[in-house]
Amino acid sequence: MTNLHFPKDFWWGAAASGPQTEGRTADDGKGDSIWDYWYATEPERFYQKRGPKDTVQLLQRYPEDVALMKEIGFNSFRTSIQWSRLLPEGRGAVNQQAVAFYREYFATLIENGIEPFINLYHFDMPMALQKEGGWLNRETVTAFADYAALCFELFGDQVRHWFTQNEPIVPVEMGYLYQQHYPAEINLAHAVQVGYHEALASALAIQRFRQSQQSGEIGIILNLTPTYPKDPNDEKDGQAAQLADAFFNRSFLDPAVKGTFPEELITVLNELAIMPETRAEDLQIIKENTVDLLGVNYYQPRRVQQKRSAKTADTPMPEDYFDVYDWPEKKINPHRGWEIYERGIYDTLINLRDNYGNIPCYISENGMGVEDETRFIDASGQIQDEYRITFIKDHLRYVHQAIQEGSRCRGYHMWTCMDNWSWLNEFKNRYGFIAVDLATQKRTIKKSGEWFREVIQQNGFVD
Ligand code: BG6
Repeated sequence: MTNLHFPKDFWWGAAASGPQTEGRTADDGKGDSIWDYWYATEPERFYQKRGPKDTVQLLQRYPEDVALMKEIGFNSFRTSIQWSRLLPEGRGAVNQQAVAFYREYFATLIENGIEPFINLYHFDMPMALQKEGGWLNRETVTAFADYAALCFELFGDQVRHWFTQNEPIVPVEMGYLYQQHYPAEINLAHAVQVGYHEALASALAIQRFRQSQQSGEIGIILNLTPTYPKDPNDEKDGQAAQLADAFFNRSFLDPAVKGTFPEELITVLNELAIMPETRAEDLQIIKENTVDLLGVNYYQPRRVQQKRSAKTADTPMPEDYFDVYDWPEKKINPHRGWEIYERGIYDTLINLRDNYGNIPCYISENGMGVEDETRFIDASGQIQDEYRITFIKDHLRYVHQAIQEGSRCRGYHMWTCMDNWSWLNEFKNRYGFIAVDLATQKRTIKKSGEWFREVIQQNGFVD
């Protein structure tokens, strides 16, 4: 038996987002985001046609929810401010109810010994700005920097850990390549412009944070999917993996940490004649405003091989440069269809150690969505989610090993705290430490939540 002990002041907690938890009330003053709009216009796209209106009613229930976080023992918790709640039109008039809500919410966390980690953008473009093109429009970049500066001003006395965006590649791929987010286009040129504007907006927000001279640190949260070639000794598989990595990881990781974009990506975009529109000063802004801290969301790896299959889309796609490799030995979470590969979290942290100056980081999301967890309720009414405990342990072991080997990983947040609303999948898969009965909104800590409490108390676990 080994005692896996984590560093002093390790961040233990969970992550969530505003749009997935808060819900709306008739008079809350919030403007529509793309999710509110999309649900209103195309509800059939959403699993069981359940939209973002109710989610888990955190807006009204946060005191109870924070009490449960405290019961589990979190010392930190990440959520996001909804841009469309604070600024219903995306810019201009401030919704004072939103200011009051977020201030009280953050104060409640702090009073309970839970450090708020606050993210500014979690896939939730205000609809008013989307109507002007959203991230395709350069004006949105300025609007985002102004919104960020407003947040620093309004909440800077409460928040010490800021994040500009969560998984900025997701609006790129899901909104402009694979049709899972609004506006559901298939257009690589638009995807590239959107990604570029997000990267620039993040750098500008960091610049505004530094100009504000507030204490604390600022980062970005990226979903890093370590990319493995089918045959590591095959040069073409290796090149395919490198390019996939450039498209999906380094497109944001490099500008965020190094202040530059990957050369391979620039070459491909030039060949396709879809380089984004830029301004002379942009690259300097990106160069000078890199992150203090990196949040790493890790769910699954990407496995690729050299391109052999025929092209299927009649427009350029990243998949023109590689084929997905279906590893026959893979372990899979059947509910979400994602591979479970625990070692990927270690490889990711070691990659940051070796190739990104060992940037301070933390695991900002890792978790397992499971359908119909009520199957596992015991006589006392608690969900016995042993699989989640195993999942977390198997990943934490690798996080521990990476730290032993020099990674500057400072914490572990699970996705998520309470079961929450998951975009088009709504409540299909449940991820939380705390179960939510949607009929009654009753919250019950799952077995994994109780297990996590022990891990936090011991700052590790005996393996
Ligand atoms: C992360 C996102 O990618 O994965 C969350 O930051 C999301 O917003 C989570 O909910 C789980 O994915 P999904 O699609 O099953 O909800």
